[in-house]
Amino acid sequence: MTTAVQLKTRELKPGFGAEILDVDLARAEPDTLAGVVDTFHRHGAILLRGQEMSPKQLVDFVALFGEPEDHTQKQFTLPGHPKVFVLSNREADGKPIGAHNDGVGWHTDYSYKAQPVMCTMLYAVEVPDEGSDTLLADGCAAWNALSPERQKELDGLRLHHSYQHFMATREFGRQELSDELKRDNPDVEHPLIRTHPADGRKALWPSTGTVTEVVGMENPKGLELVDELVEFMTSEPFVFRHKWQVGDILMWDNRCTLHTGTLYDDTKYFRTMHRLWAKGDAPY
Ligand SMILES: [Fe+2]
Repeated sequence: MTTAVQLKTRELKPGFGAEILDVDLARAEPDTLAGVVDTFHRHGAILLRGQEMSPKQLVDFVALFGEPEDHTQKQFTLPGHPKVFVLSNREADGKPIGAHNDGVGWHTDYSYKAQPVMCTMLYAVEVPDEGSDTLLADGCAAWNALSPERQKELDGLRLHHSYQHFMATREFGRQELSDELKRDNPDVEHPLIRTHPADGRKALWPSTGTVTEVVGMENPKGLELVDELVEFMTSEPFVFRHKWQVGDILMWDNRCTLHTGTLYDDTKYFRTMHRLWAKGDAPY
């Protein structure tokens, strides 16, 4: 059996996330990798800089966290690597090689699925000199900052999520779903307050884009509540802003965070990232 070694880390933000130092993932021993996985489950997010990883190495690495998940928009996966999704503004033969401006707006990945992805990994292949930061919001810190009375009011509420609604209304890449995508992505309900399976810690877990209502609450009251909670959770005290360098691997735990991309000047810069997901459980 592999035992996790204690790694050298520093917090991304007080009380949230860990940058793991002095680890070369492509050459790391199993006990070091077990330490990386362990650090991830405890801190909500991890960062490793200066990595050189082939698509296959990325898939093998994410598989340490859980079974690699497929991607909904299959036209943007890396040829020959269906688990590796490309985010890019580059084109090849007149066609985009990846999704552009994907993930702008606070959300949690795959929130429209019965079993949303547990973790998201981004690997920076090329990055702009400015813009395109990724922001992570700490749902546990936001939950802990609420008064016991407020926590009691919110605990037990459920949100209705819809992929169809999200794709019909989002700012970038709006699309009418094919019958196949509609069939594969029926609406789901998830708790507003999510419990982390590793240690039972609770997190505020709203989202934007896919949420159509708070179950049992009239709109606009329900959506106003969701907006208010997203605004609270994504306010400065709970947010880590990541500025990308080539070779960065940033992974976050979708069970206790929200995230958003930010825009960049795509007339001036190219940005290419590889995104991978590990499967998750039904939220409770
Ligand atoms: Fe995302």
